[in-house]
This record gives sequence, structure tokens and C-alpha cells, in this order.
Amino acid sequence: MKSGETVLRFSGVSKRYFLADRAVDALRDVSLDIAGGEFVALTGRSGCGKSTFLNLAGAMDFPTSGSVAIDRLRTEKMSAAELDAVRRGRVGFVFQFFQLLPTLSAVENVELPLQLAGDRRPRARALEALELVEANGLAARLPHQLSGGEMQRVAIARALVHSPSVVLADEPIGNLDSESAAVVMRLLRRIADELRTTVVMATHSLESAAVADRIVALRDGRIETVSKGV
Ligand SMILES: Nc1ncnc2c1ncn2[C@@H]1O[C@H](COP(=O)(O)OP(=O)(O)O)[C@@H](O)[C@H]1O
Ligand SMILES: [Mg+2]
Repeated sequence: MKSGETVLRFSGVSKRYFLADRAVDALRDVSLDIAGGEFVALTGRSGCGKSTFLNLAGAMDFPTSGSVAIDRLRTEKMSAAELDAVRRGRVGFVFQFFQLLPTLSAVENVELPLQLAGDRRPRARALEALELVEANGLAARLPHQLSGGEMQRVAIARALVHSPSVVLADEPIGNLDSESAAVVMRLLRRIADELRTTVVMATHSLESAAVADRIVALRDGRIETVSKGV
């Protein structure tokens, strides 16, 4: 999708979970358009709906009502096979606890999304992605031989390697020291600026949210305010 076009569109999205006999409204009537190459930070206290937003944005789950579109493709209209293709091809995820496979080296972890997409010679692209996050020296290491900041850089390379339309990062600096967090924020900013890949990041940190183009504050599942970052 070209830079500037809408990559993610939430139209009147509500998400209700059921826990035993109790209904939880995780998102309430959320409408938001996010453009190609835009960096959006989602803020708000724990339980306000940030992770739910990211899961819906990545076609990992569906709205109870309303519509979510990725590259103009509406997730609620898709077959299981189409959803699979969207998740594999158009979305990259970054998690708070990195989620690297412990028995695979850094470069093998980065190769996984390409292998899932049927690429039998993923090494060159995986090394390129590692270079982008300044981690090519770490390619042969296992996750337990990496610091938290290094693991997150490798995880970002894995999220990017298949050139997705959007990178969804759920509290990506929540488990990092301030120096590593600054490196990760700089990388996410570069991904939006240089690759023109859309980035949506959930964070508790108002300081890191300020690095984004727009800051969307959620409260009890609703958009409370939308403000400009950098
Ligand atoms: N699978 C689930 N089943 C039931 N309730 C859930 C589920 N996932 C999230 N919730 C609830 O939805 C609300 C929003 O959660 P979440 O999106 O994880 O918030 P955040 O990421 O901002 O902390 C919370 O009240 C949470 O308890
Ligand atoms: Mg969360």
C-alpha cells in the first residue's frame, strides 16, 4: 500500500468479551484511520483496550460490531484462508516479552515468517532485516545469549522481514531498561520514516508515545483524545 493511503481503518468498532456471566466491553465504538507510513501510539491505563485494538488490527480477532479493514480488506468478510494470508503477509507483531523461539538462532527466528510464506531461501532477506536493526553481528546467537534490548531488535527484524503493511507493537519497551528502550523507539521511528511501514504501538510510557506522529489515548475502551506527537 502506498504511503499516505489508509492502511488501517476502524469503523465503529466494539469488542465485547464474555467472562463467565459477565460482559466486558474492551472497545466501544472506536473509529480511526491510520495512514501508510504513520506512527501511532496507543496510550491509557491497563485494561483500557490497547491490546484488544492491536489484536483486531492484526486480524487475530474480530469486532463484535463495526468493521476493521487492513489495506481496505475487511477482516469480518474474510475466509479462514484469507485471514491467514493477511496475518502472514500484511502484519508484523512485536511483543513485550519478545516471543523468540529459544532453540533457534537470531537469524533463524527472523527467517520464520518467510518460511511460513513458502520462501525456501530466506537467509539473505533475514540478514538484511537484521542489518536494518543493527543486529547483524548477533545472527548466530541463541535468544538466551542476547540482552533484552538485543532480543527486541531481533524481534523487530522478524516483524519486518516480510515487508508487512503494518507493524503492531504491544508494549515493546515494557520490559527494557531506558537505554535499550530508546534504541527500540528510534528503530520504530525509522521503520515508519524510511520504510514507510505503518507502526501502531501500545505503551504506558508517555515519553515514548511522544515519538509517534499521533497519540491516541484510550479510556474504558473509548478514544478519549487524539493528539499530535513529533
Ligand atoms: N480474552 C478475553 N476475555 C475476557 N476479557 C478480556 C479478554 N481480553 C481482554 N479482556 C478484558 O478487556 C479489557 C481490555 O483489555 P486489554 O485490551 O488487554 O487492555 P490493555 O492492553 O489496555 O491493558 C480488560 O478489561 C480485559 O480484562
Ligand atoms: Mg495490553
